[in-house]
Amino acid sequence: VSLRPTLRRFKRRVAFWRDREQTERMLLGAVRHRGRPIALNANQQAFCEWNAQRLGISLDESRRRFAASAQALRGGHGGVAFRTFNDVAHSLYQVFASDAPSEVFEAYRLHSPAHFLRTLSYDPPRWRADHPLLEGLHGRDHVTVVDFGCGLAQPSLSLARALRERGCEVSLVLADIPTLRFEFVGWLARREGFEVAQRPCTPDERVPELRSADVLIAREFFEHVHEPVWYLDRLDRYLAPGGFLVTNVEDHHQEFMHVSPDLAPLRARLRELGYEAVVPQTVFRKR
Ligand SMILES: C[S@@+](CC[C@H](N)C(=O)[O-])C[C@H]1O[C@@H](n2cnc3c(N)ncnc32)[C@H](O)[C@@H]1O
Repeated sequence: VSLRPTLRRFKRRVAFWRDREQTERMLLGAVRHRGRPIALNANQQAFCEWNAQRLGISLDESRRRFAASAQALRGGHGGVAFRTFNDVAHSLYQVFASDAPSEVFEAYRLHSPAHFLRTLSYDPPRWRADHPLLEGLHGRDHVTVVDFGCGLAQPSLSLARALRERGCEVSLVLADIPTLRFEFVGWLARREGFEVAQRPCTPDERVPELRSADVLIAREFFEHVHEPVWYLDRLDRYLAPGGFLVTNVEDHHQEFMHVSPDLAPLRARLRELGYEAVVPQTVFRKR
């Protein structure tokens, strides 16, 4: 009787357990020591308030849950471990929805809790006082800002605050795929006293009716859609002549949901439409 098959099975078992042990050690390394107080940024604090109202729980309980979630992985929601967790989730759950054109809206909904927590950890961009956009809008008493693919609306809300400080009234139109984050962002903008309209984007209505805009923000958006030029043409209809487009039309790296990393056709279309670059690749002015 040959012992070889038994030996082979035994070796496979040893390799399996060695592998498992290593994976467990790695995962445990990623888990932080719980219970330490953590500092929340302004959006995370607002989230805790909103979530307490949404769930009918106390603010303390809402904060406790948020801290426990942030401490589940080393580095919190903004850390490398959480980023890895997101990447793993994208791979694991692709069986339910991939980023193919017919499934990508569903994929955004599927991954929305993790994306929501991640974006809450980001700091909003700051608009320098001498930023060409603020200078270009100088002297206006009212500005309409459309933020398409708004996410947490970090650029539009921070711009709205900067304009309000300069005595300018701001109307916001926020558009995105309807998820929990989209509900939160509407609440956040209204809580700050802005006039805000929300436009859900769905497979049946990919670009809903917007408003004539002085500023159109579509930041970190075009690489996420399968037909960036089609979107630009639709959005362009809403930007008033002389209005500003805030975006990022550099090529992006390839990853899940970066379905159009090569934005050369979009840059060419901007040139055809006569957009003038005010800040290379990110701020354009419509003639
Ligand atoms: C990388 S995030 C950028 C969020 C925000 N613009 C920012 O700069 O912080 C991409 C955003 O595009 C949204 N998005 C992706 N595909 C979309 C589509 N077809 N229609 C509307 N929004 C979309 C996502 O839900 C997400 O909020």
